[in-house]
Amino acid sequence: MKGIVLAGGTGTRLHPLTLGVSKQLMPIYNKPMIYYPIATLISCGIREILLITTPQDTPLFQALLGDGTAWGVEFTYLTQSKPEGIAQALVLAESFLDGAPVALILGDNLFHGKGLSDLLRQEINPRGATIFGYAVNDPERYGVIAFDEQMNPVDLIEKPSDPPSAYAVPGIYFYNSEAPSRAKATQKSGRGEYEITDVNKSYLKDGALNVVLMDPGFTWLDTGTFAALSEASQFVEVLENRQGQLIGAPEWAAYQAGFIDETQLTALAKPLLRSGYGQQLLKALNSYGAR
Ligand code: DAU
Repeated sequence: MKGIVLAGGTGTRLHPLTLGVSKQLMPIYNKPMIYYPIATLISCGIREILLITTPQDTPLFQALLGDGTAWGVEFTYLTQSKPEGIAQALVLAESFLDGAPVALILGDNLFHGKGLSDLLRQEINPRGATIFGYAVNDPERYGVIAFDEQMNPVDLIEKPSDPPSAYAVPGIYFYNSEAPSRAKATQKSGRGEYEITDVNKSYLKDGALNVVLMDPGFTWLDTGTFAALSEASQFVEVLENRQGQLIGAPEWAAYQAGFIDETQLTALAKPLLRSGYGQQLLKALNSYGAR
């Protein structure tokens, strides 16, 4: 399986913070936002990762992340010239994917929880797609799942004014090889975007969509507003400082996935000791080192 991190867009909901710098390079406590979705893909065992960014931001992401060798992964970069919708990522990625199944994750989504990577991996539907449902207080901001009386998913609605349930669809999606062709078949929505919800609906219509309700014990945060950005930072700060957990660290995810060994992780930590991040990596290795 290959991975895509979608990290373009205009970031208008974070202006003026994002007037000069990409939203996905903003800090979530001690790491750039994009580290979190990359760590999630790595924890799913995905090595080949495509980063889709805006033309002006691509050099910044390349300077930050390089080609991925240090983390035992392979980054490929692609630009999206205009933010015409999340589904467009699947069309742009067609030759990168070359018929492989894909995990698409949004560059501003943060996932955390014990056993999350096992859940994500287990639920992959090889004959279609897998999406998740997560109960939130403000479903109208998201793609929302409508269920019948037996809680079978019957529809998906993007940003409904009257949400049919509390279950929002988080920004991580698993697709079989049909995703680019299904994305190509979608039409622009009223807001002028190729909607990922329409791709998911196409799988649903064909009985090929696996909808998994995420336990509320898992954390899903979308970091697209000032308040959400600040809350996500506080969340990471509290868990890292109080419990010594490392959240969204690609180096640690790569070590746990077996992509790099102890010597490589130690070498990655050394130049980062002054900020404390290197110490966190070494501490994780000493405390939870066994894979
Ligand atoms: O966060 C989950 C939600 O993400 C889903 O529940 C919705 O169904 C889905 O449409 C999406 O809603 P948002 O309104 O939050 O999407 P937004 O426009 O903020 O884009 C999400 C990320 O993808 C953001 O980091 C920018 C990036 N993006 C977005 C578009 C439309 C791109 O890189 N290119 C694009 O064309």
